Amino acid sequence: MDTKIMSFRAPHLILAGLDSLERLGEEAKAFEAKKALLVTDKGVIESGVAEKVQTLLKKEDITIDVFDKVVSDPDIGCAEACIEMAKKGKYGLILGVGGGSSMDVASVASVMCTNPGTVHDYLGVNLVKNPGIPTILMPTTAGTGAEATPNAILTDVEAKLKKAVVSPYILPRVAIVDPLLSVSMPPGVTSSSGIDALTHAIESYTSNNATILTDLFAKEAIILIGRSLRTAVANGNDLQARYDMSIGSLYAGIALANAGVTAVHALAYPLGGQFNVAHGIANGLLLPYVMEFNILGRIPKFAQIAQFLGEKVGHLSLLEQAYHAANAVKAIYKDLKIPQSLTELKVPREAIPEMAKAAMDVTRLMGNNPREMTVEDVQRIYENAL
Ligand SMILES: [Fe+2]
Repeated sequence: MDTKIMSFRAPHLILAGLDSLERLGEEAKAFEAKKALLVTDKGVIESGVAEKVQTLLKKEDITIDVFDKVVSDPDIGCAEACIEMAKKGKYGLILGVGGGSSMDVASVASVMCTNPGTVHDYLGVNLVKNPGIPTILMPTTAGTGAEATPNAILTDVEAKLKKAVVSPYILPRVAIVDPLLSVSMPPGVTSSSGIDALTHAIESYTSNNATILTDLFAKEAIILIGRSLRTAVANGNDLQARYDMSIGSLYAGIALANAGVTAVHALAYPLGGQFNVAHGIANGLLLPYVMEFNILGRIPKFAQIAQFLGEKVGHLSLLEQAYHAANAVKAIYKDLKIPQSLTELKVPREAIPEMAKAAMDVTRLMGNNPREMTVEDVQRIYENAL
């Protein structure tokens, strides 16, 4: 029996479904802003999505400036450039359009317009005192779930680590999840972002902070992503697959916002910070190895995950079923042809001790892990992934 008190946060409003972007003008108008800042990246500009967003706002007589310098896995400097523009422009609304990077930079810019000091002052949990400028976040990928999470992730280049501004004020006022925005995403981005979403769902489902409420979202996310990730990568025009991935990613984001992710993300952070491995790729590589370690900590839930991923395991013992969950994830990766070893990513064995120490320092996530991990355990997991 779950004895935890359930605590649940989500965006004030979620609009999700085909053509939900069409509601943007109406929602933006409700904030009575005259000027808005669109935070995005060059890819979103090239895809024409940014132009569509601008047209919808212009119809409501809202003038819009564009910050299009967001890079993937943005560092603090990237966020600072956006904050400077946001402060100067005195905007009434900030829009984040793109992957997690654009949405996170938009959210950080929003709170930095209403709080003193620099971003460095807010890297941590619940350090933001004042709500930011209203934000509307619109994902064009299906992966980070950043439209539904209170975490904005930035790379601290000097510390070679990913750090996060974690605050309820990072959650947007409105999240618009239109699967049509993800159709132009190339296969490589579809697979790496989709794997990130699958990681969020599995980690949230098995987190120490999971509740029966977060399990609703995590379970559905595993089912949706498990059945559609391969197709979304192989045939990007398959709308049902894109729909499943967008909604699955949103659900996974909601689950992670309330249950938290666990050791996979903690072990992935040093790969991003020290070796510039993309977030989804780092998670994807480590997920099955961490699952294999974690299974003994939460056998029934891992057995359920195997079933959610479509494994026919009813005739097996609970423990055997649980191990099938890790195998099912490995099978997905094989089909997606993503890097399957640290060696492929040019991460040398000698780097493992330092990475293990850095991962152990991410106590915010390690504390959620369903099986206690020592620094030696972390080293062994990295070695298994070599
Ligand atoms: Fe993630």
